[in-house]
This record gives sequence, C-alpha cells and structure tokens, in this order.
Amino acid sequence: MEFLDLPPLALAAGTVRLPGSKSISNRCLLLAALASGVAEIRDLLDSDDTRVMLAALQVLGVTVEPLGGSAWRITGAGGVFPVKAADLFLGNAGTAFRPMTAALALSGGRYRLAGVPRMHERPIGDLVDGLRQIGADVRYTGQEGYPPLEIGPADIRLDGPIRVRGDVSSQFLTALLMALPLTGREAVVEMTTELISKPYIEITLNLMARFGVAVDREGWARFRIPASAGYRSPGTLHVEGDASSASYFLAAGAIAGGPVRVEGVGRASIQGDVAFADALAALGARVEMGENWIAAGAPESGRLRAFDLDLNHIPDAAMTLAVCALFADGPCALRNIASWRVKETDRIAAMAAELRKLGAQVEEGADFLKIAPPAALRPGAAIATYDDHRMAMCFSLAALGGVPVRILDPGCVGKTFPEYFDHFLQVTAPVVAIDGPSASGKGTVAVRVAQALGFHFLDSGALYRLTTLAALKAGVDLADEAAVAAVAAALPAEFPGDRILLSGEDVTDAIRTEEVSAGASRVAALPAVRAALLDRQRAYRRPPGLVADGRDMASVVFPEAPVKVFLTASAEARAERRHKQLIGKGMPANIHALLQDLRERDARDAARSVAPLRQCDDAERVDTTDMGIEEAVSAVLDIVRRKLPKQ
Ligand code: DC
Repeated sequence: MEFLDLPPLALAAGTVRLPGSKSISNRCLLLAALASGVAEIRDLLDSDDTRVMLAALQVLGVTVEPLGGSAWRITGAGGVFPVKAADLFLGNAGTAFRPMTAALALSGGRYRLAGVPRMHERPIGDLVDGLRQIGADVRYTGQEGYPPLEIGPADIRLDGPIRVRGDVSSQFLTALLMALPLTGREAVVEMTTELISKPYIEITLNLMARFGVAVDREGWARFRIPASAGYRSPGTLHVEGDASSASYFLAAGAIAGGPVRVEGVGRASIQGDVAFADALAALGARVEMGENWIAAGAPESGRLRAFDLDLNHIPDAAMTLAVCALFADGPCALRNIASWRVKETDRIAAMAAELRKLGAQVEEGADFLKIAPPAALRPGAAIATYDDHRMAMCFSLAALGGVPVRILDPGCVGKTFPEYFDHFLQVTAPVVAIDGPSASGKGTVAVRVAQALGFHFLDSGALYRLTTLAALKAGVDLADEAAVAAVAAALPAEFPGDRILLSGEDVTDAIRTEEVSAGASRVAALPAVRAALLDRQRAYRRPPGLVADGRDMASVVFPEAPVKVFLTASAEARAERRHKQLIGKGMPANIHALLQDLRERDARDAARSVAPLRQCDDAERVDTTDMGIEEAVSAVLDIVRRKLPKQ
C-alpha cells in the first residue's frame, strides 16, 4: 500500500492488547539461544525485527520451533553457536545486529553480517572498538565504523576493563554485556562517556539475570560480569507488551478524550518506556496504572499542557510526545534526544519536517526539538515516514486533531507492530453495543441511534439469518456445523441502503420468515458458525463509529466497546408490542400465547451455553417498559453522549 488516508477523528477510547515488546523479544531469543536447556517464550512479538532474529538463529544452528500463537520453543546451544561459518542478513533491526555482532565475535567462527542500506549508515564503531580490546576479529567491509562486518575467530584476552563509549547508542553496551558470559570468565566494562538510554540497560541486566547471570554495576559507569558457566534457560518466559507501542494509544487517549487502556504493560514492567505515562501525566493527562495495564485520558481542561522535558531516558516514546506537542497549549521542548539521529532514520530531521507540514513551527538542534503548535492543524498533510515505523505510528495521532491525514508507506509499521493501524482505527472508531431480549425493540432503536450519530450499523442477527438462508438454498443440513460454518465464512452478502442482498438477490424480507428465524436460532448456537462470522462483524468497525446490535456484541465481538447498552422491557410490555405488530400486519395473534412464548424464549436464551442472553457487567440497562421508541432512542443517545462526549 502506497499510502493510508486517515479520516478526521474526534475521540479515542477503548482497550488495546499490546503486541510483545521488541526489546524483550529479541533479547530473550538471543539469550535462550546461547543458554543451556530449552526455553519456551510466550507472547513473542511477531514483526519484521523478530523474524530477522529468528531466521538468524536458525542459520546459526539453533533449533527454534513455533508452538502456535505467539509461543516459541528455543533449544539453547549451551554456549557459542554451533554453525561456524554463515552469512547473515539482519534487515534494519538494531536489536538483532548489535548483540549478534558481539555474540558472533566470541563464537569462534567466520561470519558476515549485513543489513538494509540504512543499517549500513547506523554507527557500530563503539561496539567494534570494545570487542577488539578483548581480541575479537571484527572488520568493516564497507565504510569504517559502519556495517557490513566480517568476523573471524577471536583470540580472547580479558586482562583489563573493556572501555566503551555510551553516548551514541546503549545497544553497544547491551551487546557486550550479553556476549561476555560466553567467555566463561570475569569481565569488567567501563564507560568512557555518559551512558544514554539507561532504562534499556536495565532491561538487558534484568533478562540476563533471568538466564542466570547477575551483573554487578557501580552506578552507570562500571559493570562486572562474574565468571560463570554461561546462561541457563529459566524454562518458560512471558514477553511483556511493548511499552513503546503503548505510547501511541496512551497519547491518543490523552489527546482525544479517552480513556484508552493498554494491556500488557504496567507497574510491573521492566521497560523504561512505561515512564512515558509519567511524561503524559506531566502534560496534564489523567493517567492510571495497574500491574499489567495503563490507561490515559484527556486532562480535565481538555487540552494538554505545554512541556519542556529531558527525554534521554525514553528516546523512542519521546517521539510520541513530539506529536503530542501539536495538541499542547503552548510551545514545547524535547531535550537530550541526540540518539534520534542514528535510529531508523534521522528522527530529529524527519520529525521536524513532518510536524511543519501540519502547521507547527519547529526549531531543530543537534539534540533537541522545539515545537510551537499551530492554532489549528493543517488538513490533508501527506506525511513521509522514512521507512521508520515510529514516524508512521506517531503521525496517525495527528488525525485526532479533526483533520484528514495521509500516511505514506504505512506498511513500515511491520518492523515492530504490523497490526498497528487496525488497532488505532479500532480505538478511534467507537462502538455502541446494543443487546437485549427478543422483542425489546433493540433493532429499531439501534438503527435510529446509528442514524442520529451518523455511525455505521451492524445487524448481527441478519448475518445469522443470511447464513441460514444461504445454507437452506444450498441444501446444507443446518445441523452440519462445519458445512454451515463454511457457508458463513463465504457469505456473499451486501447491504446497500436498507436492503439486504445475497448473491445479488434482494432477501430483505426472505430472511424474516418463520422458517429462517427458527433456523437462525439453531445456527447461532453453533460455535464454528459464530467463529466464522467474528472477523466479518469486526470489520464493520470503521470511523466515525459503529452501532452494533446483537447478542454477543458487548461480550465477544466488541468487548472493548466504550458504550454498552442492555435494552430491556418487561415480558408483558414486549408481548404487547409484538401483539400490536402482528395485528398491524393483519396476522392472527394471541397475547397470552405470545407472553408464554417470550418467557420460554428468555429462559432458553439465558440458559444456552453459546452466547447466552446476559447483561454485561459494564453495560448500562435501559428499561423501555414505559417508553415509546423516541424516548428509548433518546435514552440511549444520552448514554452515548455521556460516554463519548465529543459525539
Ligand atoms: O436479532 P435476530 O432475531 O435477527 O437474530 C437472529 C438469530 O441470531 C436469533 O436466534 C439470535 C441470534 N443472534 C445471535 O446469537 N447473536 C447475535 N449477535 C445476533 C443474533
């Protein structure tokens, strides 16, 4: 895809389950590969950078097996890599390139390491200097100080401290620390400069300790790796959610109402980027944090406060703050961010250029950015992303200023977060889930609410009815779960205007017959059919929002819906309504029989094991027993406006 056009967005609310942390995923993979024993890594990030690492480990003779979902089993080499000669391509993954360089330099083989052209512009000299001090044979095959590299067997000497710079990238120190236990001997690393991005070193030390090697450190100046028998697998490891990826959603909540809740990182996190939450709080956002989640909402005043912050400790998440500056109440400054210049792109220059397209005044320094937000964002900016996933994710937030934004080359988010835009559009396209017992009037109310809000509308019951009709037409036995599920998965249905088409044929009335109703109720009880319709239902969620009508909208299909309504009425009132409806259509009806029928159906619906009728804990109840349609619609709209104040 060349570009992605984001529509003007007004609010962000909901819950996002984060993908695994890139930093933790790639460190765990390498440590597990070097360790003795078998490690099972759960919730591993699936993205370009982790695939690069997994592929490299396989080339190097490590057994990596997918266990399904995001779990992997790594059988450790119990020391250096078994394959002694290999050519590796490591893309633009710094978290793979740097640590792999150090580990291979101590592996006693001959290796060549290369990456994409940008990787060859990212410095690695400080790491190579450190490795050469202990007798490693690492040579530059292109430009001095940069990849590609050629590595030969080392003649390891550990007679004094290894002295390295820490002011360009903390990954050089991470790489050395992770590789040194391969020597089995005690080693000392001393910093010759200030160390930047310290929280990333904490992640490294923390994970090394999980694999049995405890490093002593004196402040951030000196690190002692003890003599050891090397790494030992801790068994099973869970990768936390990615705290840098969390920053976009938290910022969305802080900019546009919220709350947006991210799950997978929280107080218990070992990632420094959770401190982004503190930065957001300093901007006035309402921030809450649990062990494993963080939520952020807009300040009481509605607008974020201007800021002037040293962001050396959160270099990646700091990019998100640069975009938050567009929504601040005055000029902002981001300081001590020189490392941005050697990341996926020169992020200081890239950020300045793209913020200007939105109307901001930006001053760019060697290690700072000053950003004065415009009175209103300039609509229709085409944002270049520089093959940098974070540029693409950051600038999606600009659409929350109520302007359309074009993101060029949106696929670059695949580096760390392939599903990013789906999640972003989910939290920015709110869902109003409406459920209730049969004959509660929810269908009529839901359509009217969708019209009033200008939202899309999902009549999920119609999908079960359509599946039934399509199955009947095809001669499929409704009890044949797999066959009906196949029909559901391939349903050729369209919904132009008020009409419903199946293979181009108008079936708006045909799906309401008694035969189809009875069939739909059987078909809806088949789990495989429900599963087959799940993605189709979720695809209805698009900006500016969705009203979703049906049994499991609030519980299964859109559990994160910011508005959940349970529309109900006494059985007597519902029987009376149905009676009126049937009489109106000139059909025979008996109110006592209808009441009896409804009561039995309620009981059946509530008792069934698949998608039972039940009010979700977080759903608001609207009892329409004494209401007309207009009143019921107003009552639901009141709830929507309370929960989504900007609609
Ligand atoms: O709302 P309706 O009567 O058109 O629904 C048709 C059938 O599908 C009915 O038996 C309820 C069932 N259904 C369901 O199980 N889950 C949904 N989300 C919607 C409808």
